[in-house]
Amino acid sequence: MYRSHTCGELRMGDVNKEVALSGWVQTVRKFGAITFVDLRDRYGITQLLFGESLQNELDATPLGREFVLQAKGKVNERSNKNVNIPTGEIEIVVSEFKILNKSAVPPFTIQDDTDGGDDLRMKYRYLDLRRNAVKKNLELRYAVGRSTRNYLHENNFMDIETPFLIKSTPEGARDFVVPSRMNPGQFYALPQSPQTFKQLLMVSGYDRYYQIVKCFRDEDLRADRQPEFTQIDCEMSFVEQEDILNMFEGLVKRIFKDVKNINYTEKVERMSWEEAMWQFGNDKPDIRFGMKICNLKFPAHTFPTKESLSSLISGVDFKVFDEAETVVAIAVPGCSEYTRKQTDEITEWVKRPQIGMKGLVTIKCNADGTFKSSVDKFYTEEKLKAIASATNAQAGDLILILSGAEERTRKAISELRLEMGKRLGFRKEDEFRLLWVMDFPLFEFALEDQDGGGAGRWVARHHPFTSPKPDHIHIMINNNPKVEDLDKYLEHPYAGIKANAYDMVLNGNEIGGGSIRIFQRELQEKMFAALGMDAAEQQHKFGFLLGAFEYGAPPHGGLAFGFDRLCAILGGSESIRDFIAFPKNNSGRDVMLDAPSTIDAKQFDELQIKLDLKPPTPKGE
Ligand code: AMO
Repeated sequence: MYRSHTCGELRMGDVNKEVALSGWVQTVRKFGAITFVDLRDRYGITQLLFGESLQNELDATPLGREFVLQAKGKVNERSNKNVNIPTGEIEIVVSEFKILNKSAVPPFTIQDDTDGGDDLRMKYRYLDLRRNAVKKNLELRYAVGRSTRNYLHENNFMDIETPFLIKSTPEGARDFVVPSRMNPGQFYALPQSPQTFKQLLMVSGYDRYYQIVKCFRDEDLRADRQPEFTQIDCEMSFVEQEDILNMFEGLVKRIFKDVKNINYTEKVERMSWEEAMWQFGNDKPDIRFGMKICNLKFPAHTFPTKESLSSLISGVDFKVFDEAETVVAIAVPGCSEYTRKQTDEITEWVKRPQIGMKGLVTIKCNADGTFKSSVDKFYTEEKLKAIASATNAQAGDLILILSGAEERTRKAISELRLEMGKRLGFRKEDEFRLLWVMDFPLFEFALEDQDGGGAGRWVARHHPFTSPKPDHIHIMINNNPKVEDLDKYLEHPYAGIKANAYDMVLNGNEIGGGSIRIFQRELQEKMFAALGMDAAEQQHKFGFLLGAFEYGAPPHGGLAFGFDRLCAILGGSESIRDFIAFPKNNSGRDVMLDAPSTIDAKQFDELQIKLDLKPPTPKGE
């Protein structure tokens, strides 16, 4: 028997028991004739006391950090108690011990505030995983998974596995492909999600499906993206959008309760995509704080139902605003007394290449009711007052105004809002606000190639299986998808078609997304055609799905949560890597395995593949 108890288990009630513990040596401290060792395992740390009689043996076989040790002895009340750990009132007076395995000196210390940098910790991830901080994240992940499974099981969902070696499932990224030895020259694609399979399962009658499943996407990586990540993937038959929203609101609330002991009783707020873009400048607004955008000027076709405020800023010959497509503002509460240095710093912040603005206009709404602006030359006190009133600014606020091309400026004001929200402490880690964003556009115009299919074409914003709003189907059918002038794609009728799609947003992060699906062959064919696929290509790529739709496909819909993202946010982190046992780095590499790597010549031969690598294109071309 290696152990009778774990290293996190013993308390005062166990005093005088004979026990055996096994674990890793955290620290060794020698005091004259006695030695203290902190022994660690997954459950905690227990202090071992090696008395005088064991010192010779210890001297002969000295213990080092991370040695694997078994110790037997009696539980004793400590004279010097440590109130910071649950086992801190006791220690084990060791009678015998055995080194089960030695350890090389670890490349960084295995403790909460380790001295190891990111790269080193990733290379030795198996050691990093011994650290408490990382362990806590994996425990949280396990708890989220357990809670999910319980809830879905209670609601009649069945966990069904779907294959990994498949044909492409478009989710807006490039596929990872796997060559087939038995079918030379042919390749499987790894699923970007199990989308088509879960729809086929609906055709098969498994009306409530779920899977906690790996997905693979070859796309640019960020803190919240990994090339392989996990989804809580779900699908339901005979449902309308409302049924799905209610079911999965329930899931997230259950996870909040089980994992964080939070009673999220209020109904999850809902906002249309258009309202999200209008008020917050992006489709995943952080609604923990206000600071909503005031749209002083915008191209009419982007928000056809909104009234223009451009008269507030025009007519004074201020060219920057007159020539801009879009002028947007936020009122930052309580910052009217910012110094010149502080506003200059914000100006520099918006000029960074990631934000890409040419400058920033400020209006200080002084406490005494007067105004001071960086464009006083152009605007009278009266005009400034009118702008301040449009932005809902109060005395004491600082108004920040950006101007330029619509898309870039809207994105920039959204980033600026988040940044100011962060600086002012409005984005609290322990406050959780959920939001459904709905009524997304069905299509998106790809100005750049995202999925290997080329640029300058319509792509499905969610995926090609999402149904259009019923009263928008005629636009899809009666218009040619071709866009002649790429700069004017927003004016094309396709830009206005809305989808039965929804995203769940938590604290400004998209944690899930889904839609009501197309389930009729004819409409699915029209959708593929709108995306530029002719009948032959449709048959080649999606013949199986079109075929299945001929055999009694029920109305259905679903969604998938980003499991890693949900865990990271609940754990108070922006980076999903911290919540994945063996993640990849930002270049998609596993530095521990050193993957991806080349393969043997023999493997190439078997696959009948010959490499013809092109020299890398120099950056910027
Ligand atoms: P979608 O593409 O929106 O939908 O993905 C669902 C959720 O998965 C998470 N996610 C990611 N997490 C980590 N790394 C990535 N690279 C990554 N990409 C996406 C996000 C996202 O909200 N088949 C549809 C779902 C459906 O329609 O039912 C789908 O995959 O949190």
